[in-house]
Amino acid sequence: MTIQWFPGHMAKARRQVQEKLKLIDVVIELADARIPHSSRNPMIDEIVTSKPRLMLLNKADLADDKKTREWIQFFQTKGIKTLAIDAQSGKGMKQIVEACQGLVKEKWEKMRAKGVVSPRAIRVLIVGIPNVGKSTLINKLAKRNLAKTGDRPGVTTAQQWIKVGKELELLDTPGILWPKFEDQQVGLRLATTGAIKDTILNLQDVAVFALRFLSTHYPVEFKERYQLDEIPDEIVDLFDEIGKRRGCLMGGGMVDYDKTSELVLREIRGGKVGKLTFEVPSDWENSHT
Ligand code: G4P
Repeated sequence: MTIQWFPGHMAKARRQVQEKLKLIDVVIELADARIPHSSRNPMIDEIVTSKPRLMLLNKADLADDKKTREWIQFFQTKGIKTLAIDAQSGKGMKQIVEACQGLVKEKWEKMRAKGVVSPRAIRVLIVGIPNVGKSTLINKLAKRNLAKTGDRPGVTTAQQWIKVGKELELLDTPGILWPKFEDQQVGLRLATTGAIKDTILNLQDVAVFALRFLSTHYPVEFKERYQLDEIPDEIVDLFDEIGKRRGCLMGGGMVDYDKTSELVLREIRGGKVGKLTFEVPSDWENSHT
């Protein structure tokens, strides 16, 4: 499986984020709590060198709570302040302001020492890969509905600051970074959670990955959702059982594997199978941050 990867896009996105960094005090990096490693830009550490960073694991409502705690621990031991949030409902978001205040404390103290009586609001940039929830988070923080900005790195609009209470000012256009399909696993995880479009990878390959993952890591939830007494060893038998049970059939009563794949992935993405996390810190212990 080869995934098209555009180095030109990457370089441009990187330049745009670096431009914005000049204006801000804190970077909020958004990752998907279900795939906290695969949903990051692998060069983020090189891109954001000089600014304090807050990591938000978004869509925590869909992720395995125990694994989310492990991931928070993992990032914190690497020195990155991390919170789990659900930007759709706003859960976990109350702590964002306080976390940002903690991150600029030293800088603000220095400003006070120089005689700045009341330092200004903390200026924040949100960065993350497409679909991770950047617009949802900005809207929730701003308490209003802003149009979603384009995902193409070439799109430029006039930048505006959005006030979040008295404490924060948010750049209205987030920094869009791209995931990198370092290996097949990363691509499959991004596809399973819906971070990349279904046309990029073969749908059945993604479903095979997802079904195998659920069989191994979440057998109880998986069996319950699809009313399976046992999970068949052969993947084709598993497709057949689910397809038949859920009526994903072609003419002649044969199971339609594309339809079955679509159904299973839709249900996984929508949280119907349970709260799922598709990677654990030990998968990535020796990689960057
Ligand atoms: P982006 O700006 O980073 O590209 O992402 P965006 O906010 O557009 O969010 C992408 C999708 O993820 C949206 O769903 C959004 O509703 C959903 N989302 C964002 N945050 C959360 C969260 O914390 N939990 C859950 N469960 N979903 C979240 P969509 O299907 O594209 O649109 P819609 O369903 O909102 O209409």
